Amino acid sequence: MKLVQKIAFAIGAIALSTGVFAQDAEITYNTHVAQIINENCVVCHREGGIGPMQFENFDQVRPWAPLIQLKVASREMPPYAYDHGIGIQELEGDWRLAQDEIDTITQWVNNGSPLGPVDIVPAAPVLPSLDDWNFEPELGEPDLIIASMPIDVPAGGNDMWHKHYVDTGLTDKRCIKAMQVKPRDDARAVVHHSNPSIEVYNEDSGDYDRFSQLTEYAMGKWGELMPEGVCREMPGDSRIFWDIHLFPGGVGATAQGEAITDNVVELGIWFHDEDYEEAESPYRQDLSLYGLREGYENGELIVPPNGYAMTQGFHSFDHPVRIDSFQPHGHLRMNAASLEIFYPETGRTEQISQISNWSATWHHSHIYDEDVAPLIPTGAVLVIKQWYDNTANNINNPDPDQWVYGGSRTGDEMSHAWIAITHFDDEGFAKVVEEREEREARSLAGQD
Ligand code: HEC
Repeated sequence: MKLVQKIAFAIGAIALSTGVFAQDAEITYNTHVAQIINENCVVCHREGGIGPMQFENFDQVRPWAPLIQLKVASREMPPYAYDHGIGIQELEGDWRLAQDEIDTITQWVNNGSPLGPVDIVPAAPVLPSLDDWNFEPELGEPDLIIASMPIDVPAGGNDMWHKHYVDTGLTDKRCIKAMQVKPRDDARAVVHHSNPSIEVYNEDSGDYDRFSQLTEYAMGKWGELMPEGVCREMPGDSRIFWDIHLFPGGVGATAQGEAITDNVVELGIWFHDEDYEEAESPYRQDLSLYGLREGYENGELIVPPNGYAMTQGFHSFDHPVRIDSFQPHGHLRMNAASLEIFYPETGRTEQISQISNWSATWHHSHIYDEDVAPLIPTGAVLVIKQWYDNTANNINNPDPDQWVYGGSRTGDEMSHAWIAITHFDDEGFAKVVEEREEREARSLAGQD
């Protein structure tokens, strides 16, 4: 090896081992970029994945470099719209790239997207199989899988709804740890959303009573993970009511325009141990729909042609709560959402979450890290806002000349948010507040 090569190699090795030189040393695919792409993109951009092109190696990535730079710099990819610098930033299952990763990709493309030293072989991405459950790496297979009844979906046509009951087979009540709703195989592109709710057998009437909404699936949603110390209850002697909304041919950029036979949606549930409830004596958590009725004209949601609309909703509780997750919902004209808390005693409003580039093709349940999940005293008000853009500037808009009304079809609009809430009594709330203050004091003192 010539001295020049040795020096170059040594610099490369330092850059690799410290990462400090990423801005200065030459940034290449093999030394810097492959790892970022393998860890953040290949899960979708691979053979059979939902991404329109594959990024499994340099030859596949290289032709797309300028478009990758654009999509990464604008934070459109990975698809996780959640504003930086506003409200809570510590989220579980956050797909956003760090600013230095974005800078590294940008710099690499500006340098002409070089491959780099061929003797450095980037680590292959660790990928779950396409049919795996998203929580499988941490939690294994679900404890219970409940499949909907198969239905054929034509290649085109109007929205379809598929509603029916399926027994859970569960005899005793359990606390749920995690849940995912997963369209099976090629059903992904046509299942717009799917709401399994749960009904429990009533011995007196010999019929089933509604117990609660179980979870909510909408396109692109990853799953739902409950925080520690709460019980999302699944009752025994129960059945699932499936309410599945299908859009023949598919929605948005992932549309395939193909007929799908035997479309099935599966609900996977991971439970806590059977003695969890006694051991932890948890508070109840539930997931509910919170409507945004303010901003409706004469009681109706209306977005004028080539125009805009905004809706707003206010909700408060007669007991203290913690907000565990927030998932706004709308359709093709909705383009932004926010959550704030108004404290009547101080007159102060706190920003919790803002999503300025919301898109119906990616529904995320933004799960707040347990250490920062908003603790809401009795009487404080959740203020939820959503915005609608019916102009040609909205890339999801199929027709800016239409009047758009509230309704369930994909071309109609909706205005609500799904929020998971833990309900406390005063004593339990005081304890959680105290524990958090102690933790903060400890970490300020540098003991954590
Ligand atoms: C969760 C799945 C998923 C992940 C993760 C993901 N993508 Fe994508 N990507 C898609 C889908 C689906 C599309 C096509 C629809 C769209 O643009 O939303 C797409 C489109 C793209 C496009 C093409 C856009 C166009 O205008 O044609 C680029 C470039 C891209 N992704 C780059 C990336 C990069 C770089 C990463 C990682 C930093 C990434 N994606 C992560 C699913 C994903």
